[in-house]
Amino acid sequence: MSKDVFIHHRPQWKSHIGFLLAAIGSAIGLGNIWRFPYLCYKNGGGAFLISYFTALLIVGIPLMILEIGLGHKMKGSAPASMAVVSKKWEWLGWWQVIFVMFGIIMYYSVVISWCLNYFFLSFNAGWTDNPNAFFFKQFLMLSDSPFNLRDFRMPILFSLLGVWGMTWLIVFGGVQKGLERANKIFMPLLFVLTAVIVLWSIRLPGAKEGIMLYLRPDFPRLREPGVWIDAFSQIFFTLSLGFGIMIAYASYLPKKSQIVKDSFVICIVNCLYSLFAGLGVFSVLGYMAGTSGKDISEVVSDSIGLAFVAYPKAISLLPHFSKLFGVMFFATLVIAGLSSAISILEAFTSAIIDKFHYPRKVVVSVLSVIGFLGSIIFTTHAGLYWLDIVDHFLTQYGLVLAGILECIAVGWIFKTKRLREHINHFSDWKLNKWWDVSIRFICPLVLIILFISSLVQELAKPYGGYSWVAIIMIGRDWLIYTLFFAIIVAAHPWKVEPKDRIINE
Ligand code: PHE
Repeated sequence: MSKDVFIHHRPQWKSHIGFLLAAIGSAIGLGNIWRFPYLCYKNGGGAFLISYFTALLIVGIPLMILEIGLGHKMKGSAPASMAVVSKKWEWLGWWQVIFVMFGIIMYYSVVISWCLNYFFLSFNAGWTDNPNAFFFKQFLMLSDSPFNLRDFRMPILFSLLGVWGMTWLIVFGGVQKGLERANKIFMPLLFVLTAVIVLWSIRLPGAKEGIMLYLRPDFPRLREPGVWIDAFSQIFFTLSLGFGIMIAYASYLPKKSQIVKDSFVICIVNCLYSLFAGLGVFSVLGYMAGTSGKDISEVVSDSIGLAFVAYPKAISLLPHFSKLFGVMFFATLVIAGLSSAISILEAFTSAIIDKFHYPRKVVVSVLSVIGFLGSIIFTTHAGLYWLDIVDHFLTQYGLVLAGILECIAVGWIFKTKRLREHINHFSDWKLNKWWDVSIRFICPLVLIILFISSLVQELAKPYGGYSWVAIIMIGRDWLIYTLFFAIIVAAHPWKVEPKDRIINE
């Protein structure tokens, strides 16, 4: 009886488009706007697109189908789904949702709060004439080492409270009234804002030079392993794969669902959005180079520098309505970030509800408080260092490792054939044996090579010039603690065994 009640109470998306928008909302995030264009520029322009789309085809799409198919079949969050694959693999599901909840969302929310601060600053271009000094010295007040935390930065702490408040409010509302409703507002708004920004930017003088630099192919660069490592890790991050998010979102789908088609749509919309956003970013940089008489390579900077230093500088130089442009740009970042942040909180919330059956409102509230408290370390004067190290470790190693293990668990333990038959039963677009080959052999192999090459690069020289102590204590240990925590939670008994929930399949 109790299991029927539980199946009955599993929330469901109200509409197909609601699910698609939520999944796309999770995928499109800060990474698309500030990370992708910069990676593209840094790694050989148009040539990078070859490695990026190869990564999308080889790993991105097959894994997206796997995660959505798994969530749909098991009707459960990542840990619940893994527990059905095999009791021995439940820890993997926990590890995924734990390191996103006790890792990614904690620094991601802080970056959204910077964007929120900058959103308000842009009403009167409050970043002064020297955005570089403003960002590092006045805004972050960056200290000299990761272990010199000093104090909290109050403006960041306040807007962080706002970001967590909004995330809490949306997830608190549940699947239909919270996530679905929010994304139905966020996504159209995001697309319109982005379109206006890009169309505005590409008409600026100098835009063409910027775009040339962004997309001009430098094919020999494809020989460098670093270019491929960047492409594959970006695909993971941008598609929100390995986070357990897509598994949770798919668990709210109705029985009759187009798993394969939807996976393609999510991946393609996300990647095209990145390409499109990049046009805007580089047009503006091209314009700035032109007006300041500099070479464009002098005005480009990497991810964080791009959004908070180069862009503000460029915005101040715009000929007309520059403040409006700034307001729209930072609003876009906040919206893109929030629609991703809510998906992480939901992935962990649904895992806790599945296992312990606590009421959603309590779970979401407690997690939001914990999340906020955990985030505040990133609002200290050393916050940027912590953010950089944790981000590097979680995305370069955590996600890739989670991807490899997911392929092994589903491909070899559960067997891809079973999942493929389930997917094909409901889907109009059918998978063939190639998908099995991809999940069982190609994806894990490629990801293992990627993992090893990242490790080799890592050991050759400490990431970002930080001390080994900082790298080990903040980066590596973060992964280890979350793993430890995952094993403990996995050992706890279920209220209702996940496999009993899908017994009537
Ligand atoms: N896909 C998001 C992005 O590109 C990344 C992300 C998703 C991060 C969900 C956290 C949670 O920004």
